[in-house]
Amino acid sequence: MYGIIGQSPRMEKLYRMIEKVALTSSTVLIHGESGTGKELIAKALHELSPRHEKHFIAVNCGAIPEDLLESELFGHVRGSFTGAVQNRTGRFEHASGGTLFLDEIGDMSPKLQVKMLRVLQERKVEPVGATKFIEVDVRVIAATHKNLEVEVAQNRFREDLFYRLNVVPLNVPPLRDRVSDIPMLVEHFLKKTGAPVAKDFIGGEIIDIFKGYQWPGNVRELENLVERLTILADGKVKPEDLPAKIHPVDAIDNADDDDMLPLLPMSNFVHNPIVTEGIDFNTEVANFENNLILSALNSTGWNKNKAARLLNLNRTTLVEKIKKKGLEPAGTES
Ligand SMILES: Nc1ncnc2c1ncn2[C@@H]1O[C@H](COP(=O)(O)OP(=O)(O)OP(=O)(O)O)[C@@H](O)[C@H]1O
Ligand SMILES: [Mg+2]
Repeated sequence: MYGIIGQSPRMEKLYRMIEKVALTSSTVLIHGESGTGKELIAKALHELSPRHEKHFIAVNCGAIPEDLLESELFGHVRGSFTGAVQNRTGRFEHASGGTLFLDEIGDMSPKLQVKMLRVLQERKVEPVGATKFIEVDVRVIAATHKNLEVEVAQNRFREDLFYRLNVVPLNVPPLRDRVSDIPMLVEHFLKKTGAPVAKDFIGGEIIDIFKGYQWPGNVRELENLVERLTILADGKVKPEDLPAKIHPVDAIDNADDDDMLPLLPMSNFVHNPIVTEGIDFNTEVANFENNLILSALNSTGWNKNKAARLLNLNRTTLVEKIKKKGLEPAGTES
């Protein structure tokens, strides 16, 4: 869908939401970790909407100092501050009839949060130094990697603005929660680089390693890695061509030797510290489970009987988990 790659159930669900929401002018709040594709989704919403012939304008609220951001968004009149040598049309007016994408809305200052609230309530903007309001017809899409509910609880984000923005919430899952999308994404990014690469340049073994990695930088990190590999790897990519953090821990070579007590390499399971924004408990637990399963599978050459024994699980339980989590190696999924 509009350059968004992925057919995992969670992405399919997101597409259905996008299709429905695109037809409306409701404010949308996109939440997702860095690099999950929030901007791509905002663009898809615009392209699928009746507003697609007008502008899609993106403003990164985290990258611009407060005063500049204010005049960037709302415009200013000549002489309203030093350096305002002529009138300036703000992004809201520019986006009229179209869509304004406010990225990193969680970084917006309290003063601008008040102004934003007014715009969303009254659909009018007040340029800096102006005495009159200007009516605007703009669809607002905001995005953030922060948990705004936590920001509200800690008095860093206005609760009333949060509710105005959160009319339709869209959550973009991190890549580690949709690892079945990895083969398609890899193929897409290989094509995108345009580099001539061998068939099976990134083979099943590498894809399995990718599926077990956490991807803190999500799809962007995968995209950058694929590009780097096309430059650095000769022939087919080998595990040792991968950065150390993505490397699988050493396989247990003699896993079929029943006398040997297999040890799962726990160094693979270092926990992320609990950051001030808090964590998503269920996601963290699911990741930990994925890692254990993939590690057992990798160290037994994907022998499910042996892997189940390593984990002290019933084989059927393991098989069900592999299926449910989409952990099958590339090429064997339906
Ligand atoms: N599902 C996807 N299919 C194809 N490309 C994707 C997908 N998701 C992300 N990308 C690519 O990954 C990169 C990051 O995406 P994007 O900028 O939309 O993420 P973001 O969530 O806005 O990140 P940030 O929070 O860092 O701003 C882009 O190059 C984008 O094209
Ligand atoms: Mg972004």
